[in-house]
Amino acid sequence: MHRVYVTRQIPEEGMRIIREVAEAEVWPGELPPPYEELRSRIVDCDGLLCLLTDRIDAELVANAPRLKVVSQLAVGYDNVDVGACTARGIRVGNTPGVLTETTADLAFALIMATARRIVESDRIVRAGLWRTWSPLFMAGVDVHHAVIGIVGMGRIGFEVARRAHGFQMTILYADERPNPAAESEFGASRVPLAELLTRSDFVTIHTPLMPETTHLIGIRELSLMKPSAILVNSARGPIVDQRALYDALVAGKIAGAGLDVFEKEPVPNDEPLLRLDNVVVLPHIGSASVATRTKMAIIAARNLVAGLKGEALPHPVN
Ligand code: GLV
Repeated sequence: MHRVYVTRQIPEEGMRIIREVAEAEVWPGELPPPYEELRSRIVDCDGLLCLLTDRIDAELVANAPRLKVVSQLAVGYDNVDVGACTARGIRVGNTPGVLTETTADLAFALIMATARRIVESDRIVRAGLWRTWSPLFMAGVDVHHAVIGIVGMGRIGFEVARRAHGFQMTILYADERPNPAAESEFGASRVPLAELLTRSDFVTIHTPLMPETTHLIGIRELSLMKPSAILVNSARGPIVDQRALYDALVAGKIAGAGLDVFEKEPVPNDEPLLRLDNVVVLPHIGSASVATRTKMAIIAARNLVAGLKGEALPHPVN
């Protein structure tokens, strides 16, 4: 029987698929297994099911001579050294597709929450500070008919565009490749990133994290945005230079931010961004609906099982 290591408890629907073909050890902790622990646990494993919180680097895979497959339970896999896996003949899989709409919903929730000051308003009500209705009390900005700039028109960006179209927004996008479907279905226009930043009321990020997208949004890019604009990041933290974002918010160079991801996760409690009222922060929950996480577990399990059998993965990365 194959031996596999699963770095966290995952929905039972996924475990059932794995147990049909393999003997699975599951890290029981609520927090990720420490690197050294993981390194020693997978020494004699044929398969590994991991999460984006696990660092799967060259040293770790070199120490697991039997490893045939690394199955990541996420669409992003910047935590996995895919080159090192490929060099050792290890297949890598991820879970795209099933989380697309759920993640787009979350990006839109951040757009709505920041624009309409939802979290701030909730705090005010709970603190007993709601004294009357008045014309400009908690007034925010409109989402409908505003200009949205989508950075990365991939699967998730496309679903954000669909939602934006429903709100009658003007849709701009920046991507290396044109997306004819987004243009014909939602009237989206492909523009250079600088133009997108200059014209958008909401800038929302939907690119993977790669060397080319690390700090894609920094001092210069933030300075191009309108003082009334809001930045939303539900992709990966390091795509935005967090210090530059803080400075831009404090200096009034942009109006607000909605963040589901951070340069360091979990975000440290002393992160200055957490002190700003015009920032909505979430704990990396883009794909976190029960239905979607269950589907992701099933796909990750199927990738794992295919890799154990030496078959092509349903959702390969390499
Ligand atoms: C979550 O961030 C994912 O990449 O699936």
